[in-house]
Amino acid sequence: MASARQVNIAVIGAGGVGKCFLSQLEQLAARRASPKLVLTYICSSKKALYNTDHLAIDLDNVTSTLAASTAAPLPLPKLVEFLSSSGSKTVLVDNTSSEDIAAAYPKFLGQGISIVTPNKKAFSGSFKLWQDIFSAAEQSGAKVYHESSVGAGLPVISTLKDLVDTGDEVTKIEGVFSGTMSFLFNSFAPTSGSGGQWSAEVKKAKELGYTEPDPRDDLNGLDVARKLTILARLAGLEIESPTSFPVQSLIPKELESVASGDEFLEKLPAFDAQMEETKAAAEKEGKVVRFVGSIDVAAKQVKVGLEKFDLAHPIAALKGSDNIISFYTKRYGSNPLIIQGAGAGGDVTAMGVTSDLLKVLSQIS
Ligand SMILES: NC(=O)c1ccc[n+]([C@@H]2O[C@H](COP(=O)([O-])OP(=O)(O)OC[C@H]3O[C@@H](n4cnc5c(N)ncnc54)[C@H](OP(=O)(O)O)[C@@H]3O)[C@@H](O)[C@H]2O)c1
Repeated sequence: MASARQVNIAVIGAGGVGKCFLSQLEQLAARRASPKLVLTYICSSKKALYNTDHLAIDLDNVTSTLAASTAAPLPLPKLVEFLSSSGSKTVLVDNTSSEDIAAAYPKFLGQGISIVTPNKKAFSGSFKLWQDIFSAAEQSGAKVYHESSVGAGLPVISTLKDLVDTGDEVTKIEGVFSGTMSFLFNSFAPTSGSGGQWSAEVKKAKELGYTEPDPRDDLNGLDVARKLTILARLAGLEIESPTSFPVQSLIPKELESVASGDEFLEKLPAFDAQMEETKAAAEKEGKVVRFVGSIDVAAKQVKVGLEKFDLAHPIAALKGSDNIISFYTKRYGSNPLIIQGAGAGGDVTAMGVTSDLLKVLSQIS
């Protein structure tokens, strides 16, 4: 029987964030004697490492060991069984963006397995899945944290929870929630200088690795809509899904169905005039255009799209690919509580996951 002062860790996903998390876990496990942190399962989409008797997997060079493994990942129902039969408390770390894994959270939680994750899918899917997740956790006592699902490692979700739990009244949340959109608009419509052509900025962002392989996956606004769904629900709104409120897509209608991201980039310059007009209209008012999400809590309105901001506004003054999130509340009055900084990157995103793991450990061990 495993010791009560041992917590097992199962990791799904060892990509950009997963690798950084594993390195942070290795340091954490070496630093903290109790509870003993034991990696008992790790997988990517095709390979897995585990011992049927739940013995520890060596964290040293674990990603290379995983790459060399010939074992396939366990199907999710089998994984639930495997993890819940270990005799120790277990935390599942989901470092994927898989909807299937997200849909299985209630099963894991129902069996007492806690979850920490940067994956937005579970919390921005259907409202029913949201309810199932939190009722399964409540019933079993398992914990679920997802700080990095909004703003990567920035303390956005924990701050909102603290505001709500201590009885403040959140009236509005507004911000730039996408590193890609931040980079694009800070270079297309800077507060000083003229900025580049829209299509050239999109191409540059792709070359620098700031966009998804197909930039339309950033420009359709859905990623921002998912983050807004999560925050609106935490603020108390019953948002049905990320497509149940207005989301402005920056993909020209004519280019929605072109076959590839490369073809999209090739044809985008023909539509630069539309974005130039938007930029010029803002400039005429002494403003700049930015792609923002906002939640008007009292009016129960959520929206995502282009807005104009005075040059002195913190949203206009953002730099690089930073995120900024402003919480307007009764206690903070007319000066919002503002959180700003890198909203993407393996190390900072994994930091949010690791700090969630520490919160879970303090409650279950
Ligand atoms: N990167 C960031 O800056 C950032 C910021 C905030 C939030 N996030 C979130 O963090 C999560 C991970 O992002 P990432 O950048 O690390 O992605 P990534 O580099 O694409 O890595 C994803 C990992 O998950 C594995 N995977 C995917 N589907 C799986 C499945 N069904 N079963 C088992 N393993 C599966 C992949 O395996 P293969 O290698 O075999 O495909 C890969 O190891 C996502 O939810 C993302 O939205 C990322």
